[in-house]
Amino acid sequence: MRIKNICCIGAGYVGGPTMAVIAQKCPGVKVTVVDINEKRIKQWNDPDVEKIPIYEPGLSEIVKEARGRNLFFSTDVDKAIDEADMIFISVNTPTKTYGVGKGMAADLKWIELCARQIAEVSKSDKIVIEKSTLPVRTAAALKEILDSTGNGVKYQILSNPEFLAEGTAVEDLRNPDRVLIGGDIDSEEGREAIDALVNIYASWVPRERILTTNVWSSELSKLTANAFLAQRVSSINAISELCEQTGADVNEVAKAVGMDSRIGPKFLKASVGFGGSCFQKDILNLVYIARSFNLQEVADYWEQVILMNDHQKKRFAANMVRRMYNTVAGKKIALLGWAFKKDTNDTRESAAIHVADYLLNEQAEIVVYDPKVTEEQIYSDLDYLGSRSGDANRQAVTVVNDPMEACHKAHAIAVVTEWDEFKELDWQKIYDDMLKPAFLFDGRRLLEPKTKKKIGFDFYAIGN
Ligand code: NAD
Ligand code: UDX
Repeated sequence: MRIKNICCIGAGYVGGPTMAVIAQKCPGVKVTVVDINEKRIKQWNDPDVEKIPIYEPGLSEIVKEARGRNLFFSTDVDKAIDEADMIFISVNTPTKTYGVGKGMAADLKWIELCARQIAEVSKSDKIVIEKSTLPVRTAAALKEILDSTGNGVKYQILSNPEFLAEGTAVEDLRNPDRVLIGGDIDSEEGREAIDALVNIYASWVPRERILTTNVWSSELSKLTANAFLAQRVSSINAISELCEQTGADVNEVAKAVGMDSRIGPKFLKASVGFGGSCFQKDILNLVYIARSFNLQEVADYWEQVILMNDHQKKRFAANMVRRMYNTVAGKKIALLGWAFKKDTNDTRESAAIHVADYLLNEQAEIVVYDPKVTEEQIYSDLDYLGSRSGDANRQAVTVVNDPMEACHKAHAIAVVTEWDEFKELDWQKIYDDMLKPAFLFDGRRLLEPKTKKKIGFDFYAIGN
């Protein structure tokens, strides 16, 4: 089966970059990305490609090349579904904030809406692909909804979870460790659908890196991969606290441990805590699924990864207060960074939000500088926590466009995102401009300690 028309529902951090790369690598396939969010689609269509809604290194160049040729962004969801042979569902699946499973289970209402809309609109057979991260066995529910119209349209459901990380999305999509495709391997039609998707990816991904499995394995592998990755971060963060008590250095420990080829060196960077839209949500979802099968020990085991992460964020902020003579009330604290990691404008679950909230509860005055995050986003993140009124957040938090201004006359600086540019700042000048003693807290092990201490900073780094 040759695919000519692809539709992707959801023009977010996954749908946008993934479809841009597919469009670039498969110029003969028309790719339409649709979303109900009109503002987002307008931004994707902005004549100035630097204004597309997602910042990812290399993305604007691809959009520039493919947009209007075989890559389109639209709010006309029905039309795109109708025309497509293959439909990716790449909508948000956040943690539920209400009802049964509140705070744990994935909220599948957007997924279900997509399935109902596909069922209602489709007049020809479709391959429907789960690109969103979903609880294992969601495909069964999708199939029931799609088949419920009885209009004779046939659907094949594939699971094709996305493993890209933000900040490196384009590189990850161009050169993935693996592409995972789960489908109905026991039927002829199922295998044909799998092949159709394999052929899309094979335009640029070596065949041996395209893995095909049954649907349930594919769905569960995605949750498992994120749980394993997050577990490594929580593991090294747990050790970072022990390092601080014993004189060991977490970077040295991570290097020594990671050189064991069975363990490997990646994802062992101690930090102020992992953030991002995926790790916490997906582990909570895994824990919820385990509990729903009454697997208490399995659930408790994975839940600990989240508890450790919460502890790490809180511990970082509490340590700041303790070192500053147990009071930060009325003190100016500069937060360098707000995004959950460098090279993205995404702030979902960013540790910075929780550090700021803790310090605000202690009545600190916060000044934030992040090279890619807007003022509007920062206030919205704080307002969402509901710890205090919007006015109170705007009174206590200032957002500036210049790191030097953020640090001007500050009592303390906390590096919470590892933006490269923070390494190159004129730290002597910053020190001279701060109140003394000048505290510098490195939540990312980004800065070289010796030179900072030599300048005169009261310097603290995670795990040192
Ligand atoms: P996102 O919130 O950035 O984008 C989702 C988009 O879907 C939104 O723009 C929303 O308006 C749109 N949408 C929701 N319902 C719709 C509907 N019925 N019709 C049309 N559009 C609709 O989310 P994201 O970060 O792109 O994540 C999408 C999925 O991919 C999630 O399941 C997530 O877990 C998974 N995932 C995310 C990442 C990541 O790094 N962000 C990585 C791998 C997997
Ligand atoms: C993650 C997965 O890596 C990706 O495969 C999946 O598709 C989506 O979820 P993402 O959340 O975009 O990607 O970024 P990632 O690089 O995994 O970082 C997540 C968080 O962990 C960030 O806050 C990062 O700063 C932190 N982290 C990561 C550490 O603190 N230490 C590390 O060693 C690695």
